[in-house]
Amino acid sequence: MLRLAVLVSGGGTNLQAILDRIADGTIREAQVVRVISNSDRAFALERARKAGIEAVCVTRKQHPVPEEFNAALKEAIDACRPDLVVLAGCLVVIPQIIVDAYPNRIINIHPALIPSFCGTGYYGLKVHEAALARGVRVTGATVHFVDGGTDTGPILLQKAVEIHQDDTPEILQRRVMEEAEWKLLPEAISLIAQGRVTVEDGRVRIK
Ligand code: GRF
Repeated sequence: MLRLAVLVSGGGTNLQAILDRIADGTIREAQVVRVISNSDRAFALERARKAGIEAVCVTRKQHPVPEEFNAALKEAIDACRPDLVVLAGCLVVIPQIIVDAYPNRIINIHPALIPSFCGTGYYGLKVHEAALARGVRVTGATVHFVDGGTDTGPILLQKAVEIHQDDTPEILQRRVMEEAEWKLLPEAISLIAQGRVTVEDGRVRIK
């Protein structure tokens, strides 16, 4: 059984998608053992509590010194002995000490088709504002392994989503979540739990 630590920052709809797929048996070989939030106001914490899952907060208010925050975040992850760390709407740039401790064992969902509209400054609605401003016809979502950079690790899954003529950033964000994010992240977890995913020379292979 793959032990999952899920890191969140906000509404937790991606966490909810994972919990729902575990509940309906789509994901059979994994369990969420802890939810960790960098915000004590994240509704994702409520979703965890409703599901009976331990939810903890590690905030910069508690740990204003960056190195102490990083150590506390690593401690919160280590304590639940995860096999896989899942960044689900997590706005924290994962510090190198955690990336080093969990090589190819951290995945992230990004709401665009990497390498488009990603990297520093591209998160949440900003991603969709940039896609609309550029006038692309399709966008989507990407699940990738987390390395030392921002949205730069090996790509595991991607799914394209059409942009409609009158989309606003909010409408587009919702469509990308519904049609891509909420499908890709559970699918990625299931593939990893089945032992079907390897990373070779920076490229992902799915058996
Ligand atoms: C959304 O912008 C989503 O596209 C991105 O993170 C944000 C919040 O997601 N992945 P969630 O509802 O907290 O999972």
